[in-house]
Amino acid sequence: MNIKMSAVVVLLIAVALAAWNMFLAPRNAGEETSSIIIPEFTQVAQSGQIAFEENCAACHGINASGTDNGPTFLHVYYKTGHHGDAAFLSAANNGVRQHHWRFSDMPPVPSVTDDELRWITKYIRELQAANGF
Ligand code: HEC
Repeated sequence: MNIKMSAVVVLLIAVALAAWNMFLAPRNAGEETSSIIIPEFTQVAQSGQIAFEENCAACHGINASGTDNGPTFLHVYYKTGHHGDAAFLSAANNGVRQHHWRFSDMPPVPSVTDDELRWITKYIRELQAANGF
């Protein structure tokens, strides 16, 4: 095989792997998320998803579905009217006193930037919209 052909083969493999990653690979295998509708996220929301999974999902769950340590955001409590976007900035910067649930207080999350919080909020809003909240 000459160099040009090897390059083409390598390129094809790369494209196949990328396609697998984007469309076919099972996401969040093992999580009970089947009832949550995952929309086509905007780019900002996709960045938000990454930041959410790094900083918030340990308690709020993959796809914001909740865990034993924190609530889901797919709940009427967290609709825009009840918890505006500022609630997300404030929660991460200042923490949250336990009040709606019986998990515990939410500690501040200093690892996340305000920009990331805006992306995270967009991600949550798109997820909520797709699921009727
Ligand atoms: C250590 C666990 C934990 C982590 C990590 C965490 N949260 Fe929370 N969060 C909670 C708990 C528990 C509550 C519920 C408090 C209540 O209402 O009783 C909560 C509530 C909230 C609320 C509702 C605030 C309100 O005013 O009622 C928002 C918004 C929120 N979290 C955003 C985030 C974001 C964004 C991140 C990631 C940057 C994050 N949380 C990371 C545990 C966590």
